[in-house]
Amino acid sequence: MSAQAMPEAAIRIEGAQKVYRSLGKREKHAVRDVSITVTKGTIHGLLGPNGAGKTTTLKMLLGLVRPSAGTFEILGEDARTLSSRRHVGFLPEQPYFPAHLSALQAMRFYGALAGVPEDRLDGEVMTLLERVGLSDAVRTELSRFSRGMLQRLGIAQALLGSPSVVILDEPASGLDPVGQRDVRNLMLELREGGTTVLLSSHQLSEVEAVCDRVTILNRGLVAAEDHIDRLLDVEGSASVRVRGIDRLPEPVEKVASDVAFSGSVWEFSVPDRAVRAVVDALDDAGGVVLAVQPKRESLEDYFARLLARSAEEVA
Ligand SMILES: Nc1ncnc2c1ncn2[C@@H]1O[C@H](COP(=O)(O)OP(=O)(O)O)[C@@H](O)[C@H]1O
Ligand SMILES: [Mg+2]
Repeated sequence: MSAQAMPEAAIRIEGAQKVYRSLGKREKHAVRDVSITVTKGTIHGLLGPNGAGKTTTLKMLLGLVRPSAGTFEILGEDARTLSSRRHVGFLPEQPYFPAHLSALQAMRFYGALAGVPEDRLDGEVMTLLERVGLSDAVRTELSRFSRGMLQRLGIAQALLGSPSVVILDEPASGLDPVGQRDVRNLMLELREGGTTVLLSSHQLSEVEAVCDRVTILNRGLVAAEDHIDRLLDVEGSASVRVRGIDRLPEPVEKVASDVAFSGSVWEFSVPDRAVRAVVDALDDAGGVVLAVQPKRESLEDYFARLLARSAEEVA
């Protein structure tokens, strides 16, 4: 592949490792070996169960935790330089704001830190607060904000200064289903505008609906990485629906799994290589084949299977 054909990377993490050493405790390998490349203008999900190393990886990238090893680049620059961080917005796992401020005051404060020019500050702050659904609460003191409202504020804060790379650590956390949908839509809007989004999540539904690509972490290692569609393509299996027969012909019965019969329609899975013979046998038996579809696993199932497998490997 020529250099020009390579999509440009917005984020590059190579061989990241983090060992926590605390006095009197065993070493903790929070991140063992993680490499991730996020293509510009895409939404990339960092997925994994609690303790997988997602937050530690993001914090190393942002220079908030000192890496034990690895290289970290944002838009081609060493991520530890201040200039690279100018282009980055970040929602931490537990956003913290001084409780005595109003939403407006907090946003003004962080906007100034993010380098938003004074004359544009209030306009931008109001636009962002509206965008995350907080325009009715701009003057409310943050001590009276709910967990979900603080999360929305955290997201608005991450977007101050129109960063071209946005990193969100568990953006759905603390949000109700409506809030979660709002955040999904917001991420899609950001991508539409050319922004790169890297988000972490342990919630599969969140990632499945928006991400172009997903990296799955487990125990500090990359367990899988791919386009979401490819991750979910179960190799070699198809789902078949047929009606007009009382029972499955024997050659079909032999290869079918997950057989269900409802009213008049049979539904079952067969291996890809058997599809042709199955359809012929159904035809011979007088059945009407309604559908033959490549089978897609839900990310939920895939994830459970993957984690079960890596648990077996460790045991
Ligand atoms: N400051 C720390 N000191 C020691 N261990 C830590 C520290 N921070 C995180 N860990 C451990 O590192 C592992 C990965 O944590 P984390 O990166 O927060 O995972 P995730 O975000 O995927 O839930 C966990 O086992 C966690 O307990
Ligand atoms: Mg975390």
